[in-house]
Amino acid sequence: MIGTLRLTSGLILFLFVSGHFINHAVGITTIEAMNAVSAFTITPWRTLPGTILLSAALVTHGTLAVWSVIRRRTLRTSLKDWIQLTLGFLIPLLIASHVFATRVTYEVYGYSERYSYELWSLWVASPQKAITLCVALLVVWTHGCIGWHNWLSTKSWYLRNRNPALFIAILVPALALAGLISGRYRIIEQVQEPGWLDAVLAPIRPHFPGMAQMVFGGEFRVRLVTVAIIVTIILYHLIRWVLNAQKAKTRLHYRNPQTGLSADLNMRPDMSLLDTIRSAGIAHASVCGGRGRCSTCRVRIDHSLTDMPPPDATEQKVLERISAPPNVRLACQLFPPSPLSVTALLGPNPSAKDAGPQPRHHAGMEQDLVILFADLRGFTKLSESRLPYDVAYLLNRYFAAMGTAIEASGGHLDKFIGDGVMALFGIDGNIESASRQAIAATMRMARNLDKLNEDLATEMNAPLKIGIGLHSGLSIVGNMGFRNATSITAIGDVVNTASRLESLSKDHDAQLIISERTARYCGHDLSGFPLQSVTLRGRQDALEVRVIGSALKIPPAPEPDK
Ligand code: FES
Repeated sequence: MIGTLRLTSGLILFLFVSGHFINHAVGITTIEAMNAVSAFTITPWRTLPGTILLSAALVTHGTLAVWSVIRRRTLRTSLKDWIQLTLGFLIPLLIASHVFATRVTYEVYGYSERYSYELWSLWVASPQKAITLCVALLVVWTHGCIGWHNWLSTKSWYLRNRNPALFIAILVPALALAGLISGRYRIIEQVQEPGWLDAVLAPIRPHFPGMAQMVFGGEFRVRLVTVAIIVTIILYHLIRWVLNAQKAKTRLHYRNPQTGLSADLNMRPDMSLLDTIRSAGIAHASVCGGRGRCSTCRVRIDHSLTDMPPPDATEQKVLERISAPPNVRLACQLFPPSPLSVTALLGPNPSAKDAGPQPRHHAGMEQDLVILFADLRGFTKLSESRLPYDVAYLLNRYFAAMGTAIEASGGHLDKFIGDGVMALFGIDGNIESASRQAIAATMRMARNLDKLNEDLATEMNAPLKIGIGLHSGLSIVGNMGFRNATSITAIGDVVNTASRLESLSKDHDAQLIISERTARYCGHDLSGFPLQSVTLRGRQDALEVRVIGSALKIPPAPEPDK
């Protein structure tokens, strides 16, 4: 609720500011055009509904911004958040004078300033105010753009269009400044015209002493209050920091495999996990700045002495969006009551897409999978008698044939190792569908291999042959690796066994060896193929397998009952 209010009020203020920027940009043409456009960009905000909306947005946004800083357990935060926060507090200091000289003057004296007066008062009467206003434009715009970025950084369409958005974010203030500066030259010319200045100042002269007093007094008070708030916040956090430093601490073991960092930290129960990590000077991902929106601060809880408090509605929503398993939590939302050990799931500088929805297995999970291993028979010997280019060509044709078969059957192509292939089935399904997909893949692979052999008949002395091993069971599947070499893969005994079945297929001169469990789920009647009990290296128990000479001989699956 608070987040929505802050966002909505921020958007209203941004709309108001954008109107001003457009109006300033029109200054590139003529001052008359600036006055004309202000009827659309500024006047609506001076109507009663416009005034109420703008005032409410201003008060709400300012109050919630201060509240959010007070609510923070620590002032340690990312550089981006610091910039946004600092710019936010600079805004009232920079624009107070401008607001009193324009809007408050209008409300009190009913004097609606024209751009001629505005540009004269800025560039001729007090040029330092013009410089302050230019700086204020950049500060306000940058503050707003960071807010937009924080809000949109989890939206895929924004991620796709970040470059055009950045271009617009730079173009708008550049045009606004260009408009103001070209207005300066026009006004300096006009001021030379006899009687021009008297005409411009005539409506305002009667109010002048009172207006000036009001502007200076108002500006002083706004600045005083802003500085008082900033000092109060700093003192408040300082005192809290001293008091909290006395409280009992628990231990946090933090690990980030992406950076190789491992650290034991002291953790205060009143600090979130993210704050604890940041307080120790450790860079940890937090695209949304700890607002519980982006999910990039997520950690896996490897071990904890007691149960952690359950996620609240905000955290739960984000965890569901990324399909997080129960042991994954948002570091910015978790206040651990007891010692625990966590692993960061992203590096300190995640890409923006990491904030988007993630597959269920992203953080690593146990899943009943079918693992396929395939290997090209006699390829080492074959490659010895060929040029390296020929070998690369042959391998790529073979990989394309096998990869197409696996993907067409719904499998996940894990990796090519030398002339071998590893694939996973059932990452997003159950063991029945995984087994059906895997057996379909072996049949497609056999067909594709036959086709490849036909195509290469004139180039090969003998047709290519493959051996395939299929086994199923609980495996750990997840995103594994380091930096760019990270991909979805599976580990566990099932993987080793599938690999050994593939090796065994060579001894049996068979194209496929499938474990009996997988065969039972695959939906094809494999009872016609010999059932054997084999002992594999690294396994204590014998494993029942079906030995299939050619995957093309597998009978079709029976039609499901209508
Ligand atoms: S930092 Fe964005 S959800 Fe925690």
